[in-house]
Amino acid sequence: MTLPGFPIARPRRLRTSSPLRRLVAETSLNVSQLVLPLFARSGKKLRRPIGAMPGVFQLSPDEIVREATLAHSLGVPAVLLFGIPDHKDAKASGAYAKHGIVQQVTRLLKKELPSLLVITDVCLCEYMEHGHCGLVHGGKILNDPTLALLARTAASQAEAGADIVAPSDMMDGRIHAIRTELDKRGLTDTPIMSYAAKFASAFYGPFREVAESAPAFGDRRSYQMDAANGREALREVALDIKEGADLVMVKPALAYLDIIHRVKTEFGLPTAAYAVSGEHAMIKAAAANGWIDERAVTLESLLAMRRAGADILITYAAMDVAKWIK
Ligand code: PBG
Repeated sequence: MTLPGFPIARPRRLRTSSPLRRLVAETSLNVSQLVLPLFARSGKKLRRPIGAMPGVFQLSPDEIVREATLAHSLGVPAVLLFGIPDHKDAKASGAYAKHGIVQQVTRLLKKELPSLLVITDVCLCEYMEHGHCGLVHGGKILNDPTLALLARTAASQAEAGADIVAPSDMMDGRIHAIRTELDKRGLTDTPIMSYAAKFASAFYGPFREVAESAPAFGDRRSYQMDAANGREALREVALDIKEGADLVMVKPALAYLDIIHRVKTEFGLPTAAYAVSGEHAMIKAAAANGWIDERAVTLESLLAMRRAGADILITYAAMDVAKWIK
């Protein structure tokens, strides 16, 4: 097809009014696409602010219910739960304890707000004394022995009522291990949202303050992906799908839009983009200085993730966004 040129073609014709622009918009932001991350720790009436993440708190279970109720009333369909345990050890016992913080809060949320989707982050770093996502021996992060712990964690969360489990550890073979354990316990209907292409990113800095999960030695480059690699991300995603992932995630989001696009184009599975803590912090900091328009920049960033192919947007700004796009 040969396109007509100027003066027949005038792309500006379709930009002359706001309803017309909306009529021809190729992508849209909808509240039904939003997921709000929440950080749970024990206590009562606790709302502990985090320096590098304005608007984000460590919350006690009662406060989580309050926050989730508010989000739900704004139309946000899902929360992503992280836990900060009272005690950390070398085998992450808090991650798979029957009455672990995430399990407790999941039960509570499913009781108080049954129609709110509870997604649980499956990882060990918050529960390990060394802050790594797997078992450590001789300074190495062990892959295979970690799988059983991840599977136990996911299964205990699903038994507590989690609607979706979301492994973020980046051990090889974890999706298979988790699917097998869920099925063994009769949890065949619990979907797995895999952090399939998760990069070793400096954008996670503020999260580690919130989740108290900074590695005590070394970094996460031996298990999370190298920012230089795009084709490898496709191989990672392909493996996770083969092992049983129902939804896949790309993380971080804004600096990895090409990966979102390639993953969505190649596999077509429901694809989530995680606008991580550092992305949030940058927008907040610049906005606090009056250098950018927080609302406009946040919405534009999320729309870019949608345009790239993301179906699901995990964002700390979910409640603000829900209000803005109402
Ligand atoms: C745990 C985990 C991390 C994030 C989500 N799950 C941190 C990490 O891998 O170090 C980061 C989220 C964010 O930065 O908002 N493995």
